Amino acid sequence: MAVYQVRLINEADDLDVTLEVDEDEFILDVAEDEEIKLPFSCRAGTCSTCTGRVIEGDLKEQGGNPEMFFNSSQREAGFRLLCIGSPTSDCTVLTHQEPNIAKF
Ligand code: FES
Repeated sequence: MAVYQVRLINEADDLDVTLEVDEDEFILDVAEDEEIKLPFSCRAGTCSTCTGRVIEGDLKEQGGNPEMFFNSSQREAGFRLLCIGSPTSDCTVLTHQEPNIAKF
């Protein structure tokens, strides 16, 4: 099983932390285990509360319905759901990004 370095950044919350996340773990769950508070609601990929923006590397979403919330340009900009997102490489993710989705 691969383990990746996932860097979470949110300047507004003074957050810049790097977590080790297994390829089959969800980033939101691992952050919670480390007592990092990220926004969430459904935890099932059926809202956009947990949205992050991947700016380096990538992650895969398992389940849920992310295409309901992101169009193709938003996907290209890196918007992903962290509650169902697992890393596929080392990656850097801007957290708390739901308010920024419409800017792309
Ligand atoms: S918390 Fe609803 S999609 Fe992640």
